Amino acid sequence: MDAPFSVFDTLIDRSNLSSDKWSKYPENVIPMWVADMDFDSPDCIKKSLNQRVEEGVYGYTHTPKALGKVIQSHLSRRYDWDVSAAHLVHLPGLVCALHLSVRVFSNEGDGIVVPGPIYYHLTKAPLVSGRELLSVDMVIQNGRWLPDMAQFEAACAKSNSKMILLCNPHNPGGTVYTKTELLSIHALAKKYDLIVVSDEIHCDLILDDLPHVPFASLNQDAANRTITLMAPSKTFNIAGLGYAFAVIENAELRQAFNQEKAGLIPSPNMLGLTAAIAAYEEGQAWHQALLVYLKNNRDFLVQRIAATPLKMVHLESTYLAWIDASDLQLENPYQFFLDAGVGVSDGKDFGNSNYIRLNFGCPQSILDQAMTRIEEALIKHKLM
Ligand SMILES: Cc1ncc(COP(=O)(O)O)c(C=O)c1O
Repeated sequence: MDAPFSVFDTLIDRSNLSSDKWSKYPENVIPMWVADMDFDSPDCIKKSLNQRVEEGVYGYTHTPKALGKVIQSHLSRRYDWDVSAAHLVHLPGLVCALHLSVRVFSNEGDGIVVPGPIYYHLTKAPLVSGRELLSVDMVIQNGRWLPDMAQFEAACAKSNSKMILLCNPHNPGGTVYTKTELLSIHALAKKYDLIVVSDEIHCDLILDDLPHVPFASLNQDAANRTITLMAPSKTFNIAGLGYAFAVIENAELRQAFNQEKAGLIPSPNMLGLTAAIAAYEEGQAWHQALLVYLKNNRDFLVQRIAATPLKMVHLESTYLAWIDASDLQLENPYQFFLDAGVGVSDGKDFGNSNYIRLNFGCPQSILDQAMTRIEEALIKHKLM
């Protein structure tokens, strides 16, 4: 029996909304690249934004106390992580905080340890600032993407090593690190005295029954050396409203971060603050329904992929499928998908051009259409 109609099945025309996702490719290509879902935001967010817009006064705005409170209860409720509101740094986005952290907490020539393939800003941040990128391979272990820990230790042990950039859950590949795995990374951070920047933007998009463990929540030493970066933007599809936050418990690190931030990075937009409060305070039912829908999309995709020569490791989290096209022996898998009419992300941007990243945060009918196009192209080229 078909699943009942869900709000997430609604097709939304974004062609006139200056959407990055929908303007990159020609009209006949289904865009399945940037981490942005084709779903309407929850009503609680729309209502709050409407109310705030109706006020009609849009002057300089500081972060309302209510936001600190809802973030504290969100982190406590979902991760059993008690954070002081004074340790929060409110930001207009997460990527700027990644780049800023690298510049504040390391110097030119220092080594930054980064497991990859990974979301490209985590490798770009060291590279554009004259740091040495100390890459660690993510390898498939028992059906999950995990860093090669021998390589990890060798990178941390280098004399110029200063920092680890972590992505948890990992994008791409969807790994939700277990507490044990995080503890072994923490042991290296402690042994070699490294700062850890933990990008946890996807932590509310876990599809399996697995807990998210914030790196900084592991123990006091981890809390002291970690900058945690989080945001409601991926979960509630509000990236265009520009809001993210950092948790920095260590006062010295927080002051250094805030000092460099001042004058360079603006305060978050008033509408982003408004949406974040509504999302964390009232968006829980919508969030739960979203996870059910995404999980269903993931399972649908897995079935379709299994009938092709494409391969995909089980995705524990995110709506970003990391698909291995190496068995097709194509010169350019990304171009093959594009020619088939599906605009995915090129795996090259994350560190492996034999892969593509497909965003299934969309109505299932669109995913179905995209998979049909891919299957037809494979048949046409005698690849299945
Ligand atoms: C791991 C990761 N970090 C950060 C971002 C972007 O963050 P922001 O839009 O807040 O700059 C993304 C977006 O895809 C991401 O996947």
